[in-house]
Amino acid sequence: MEIRRTRIADAIKKTSFGEPINVKGWVRTKRGNKSVNFIALNDGSTINNIQIVADVEKFDEKILKSITTGACISVIGKLVESMGGGQSVEIQADEIEIYGTADDTYPLQKKGHTMEYLRDIAHLRPRTNLFGAVLRIRHNMAIAIHKYFHERGFYYFHSPIITASDCEGAGQMFQVTTQNLYNLKKDENGNIKYDDDFFGKQTSLTVSGQLEGELAATALGAIYTFGPTFRAENSNTPRHLAEFWMIEPEVAFIDLQDLMDLEEDFIKHCVKWALDNCMDDLEFLNKMIDNGLIERLKAVVDTEFVRLPYTEGVKILEEAIKAGHKFEFPVYWGCDLASEHERYLVEEHFKKPVIMIDYPKEIKAFYMKENADKKTVQGTDVLFPQIGEIIGGSVREENYEKLLKRIEELNIPMKDMWWYLDTRKYGSCPHGGFGLGFERLMLFVTGMQNIRDVIPFPRTPKTANF
Ligand code: 4AD
Ligand code: MG
Repeated sequence: MEIRRTRIADAIKKTSFGEPINVKGWVRTKRGNKSVNFIALNDGSTINNIQIVADVEKFDEKILKSITTGACISVIGKLVESMGGGQSVEIQADEIEIYGTADDTYPLQKKGHTMEYLRDIAHLRPRTNLFGAVLRIRHNMAIAIHKYFHERGFYYFHSPIITASDCEGAGQMFQVTTQNLYNLKKDENGNIKYDDDFFGKQTSLTVSGQLEGELAATALGAIYTFGPTFRAENSNTPRHLAEFWMIEPEVAFIDLQDLMDLEEDFIKHCVKWALDNCMDDLEFLNKMIDNGLIERLKAVVDTEFVRLPYTEGVKILEEAIKAGHKFEFPVYWGCDLASEHERYLVEEHFKKPVIMIDYPKEIKAFYMKENADKKTVQGTDVLFPQIGEIIGGSVREENYEKLLKRIEELNIPMKDMWWYLDTRKYGSCPHGGFGLGFERLMLFVTGMQNIRDVIPFPRTPKTANF
């Protein structure tokens, strides 16, 4: 019998009972008795399995024996209305073909696995219900992002991955070289000479596409980047990756108010997209991972974010300390707020997302526009419940002299910056933008607790497997 394969996502919605159907997928479980076997089959198109009913007398014993958890099979049978609870349709099998068996060494036998164990078998974890759900949501978030910007006239701009400049100035870059590391060329002072290296100078993997994004925004009006980003920060936390994906819109002619409006509208759009398009997977995560998840997602879509100057935020935290609240790190005007401080403001004080603005210039990057007080800059961080910082952005300093002065104050090498300064020299304009950490968004939308579990193959200090 020649029948075209139906995806399980489509098969479970069908009502054409009695008709022949073909599904293919991986066996989640098999149970049964002397006369009938029940196989739960999943093909990744949905969190839902389809139940295959196989009468023992119809099949070779060898075939039924090799249908074990993890095996891949093709089933032709009749679509029938399900008798048992939990599903609406099932398939009464007529033919079963085994594509690939999985013996009892298959690491995903039916039992609850720890996240740590699943990280060790990250090559197989996409076959779990949990990681299937996470990966389908990840895809949907990428689509939501492209759709949002495309529909609003932003152009998708491809900033380079190999770069000679350090956008954030934090010196957390991975070097890119073809030099023989056992025999580096050095000058008389012992400094490495890069003239023979592939690019003829020191290069690294980018920490941000912003600087190039600004070049594009001051030509195309509004752009966004969406690509891999690399940071060699040695922070072994559930919120940091060495390789993560960042979305960086950059827009000409906007001010701080417009920027905050864009940040809030964009992130609400993404969360709403998940609620509108990923409900099966969200319900699964709500049940298995965090039973406050869906409620929290809905709350974010429906609330107005708080907009809070840094100075007021510090006051609130100082009041909290006076009232007896204990933090691990000290709070004072000028300090870089720790995630415990950010989470206090978001989760306990305001109980909703906070867009913090007007940070002390000393703790922010060189490109942020200075306020009239000459102490603070027009930087914005969006702080989220459970996550802390999810977005970092700013209005950019568009004045040539002021920007040059700041670059000099911070000893940023001019050989890296002349082209960036040219945007301010020729037809400069007010502009701004932000960076959203894609995996931080994924943490929020899935309720997962560790950033290593929302990217297929995490790169963190001492780990780069698969
Ligand atoms: O705040 P950051 O460092 O800002 C920038 O890179 C700017 N150039 C963005 C811009 O204005 N165009 O990083 C932006 C976001 C953070 O808010 C966070 O969500 C995420 O990127 N992020 C990380 N995510 C995972 N692992 C890391 N190590 C991250 N570092 C930053
Ligand atoms: Mg930041």
